[in-house]
Amino acid sequence: MTDTIPEPVTTPRGTRHVIDKLENFPYGDRRVVTIDGRSIGVLNVGGKFYALRNNCPHAGAPLCEGVVKGTMDDTPVHEYRYIRHNEFITCPWHGFEFELETGRSIVDPQKMRVRTYEVAVEDGDVVLYV
Ligand code: FES
Repeated sequence: MTDTIPEPVTTPRGTRHVIDKLENFPYGDRRVVTIDGRSIGVLNVGGKFYALRNNCPHAGAPLCEGVVKGTMDDTPVHEYRYIRHNEFITCPWHGFEFELETGRSIVDPQKMRVRTYEVAVEDGDVVLYV
């Protein structure tokens, strides 16, 4: 049996694109889709979905191939605390880190940002709004 993906539908939230059935998109999985010439990554991080442009604003790397991780807290010397587990993606080329929710970089959140998109689970489908 082959599932058919519906044609995109334009809504007030943007154009609705069904990426896949939720059951085919397990924790830790990610997809890169091309919509209107834009490469967009959709990631399932522990059951929470994120979508962001697959081009790093630094030098254009395929950002969504990067590692999803947390970051280090601001602590005194010789003290280390890992925080915000799985809230960031690290660029595979030079290691800049971007918050999955907002697309803002850790280093310069006001000036360096990657575009994010709304993604939702609706009637058992993973849906991206662009
Ligand atoms: S291209 Fe992403 S940090 Fe340089």
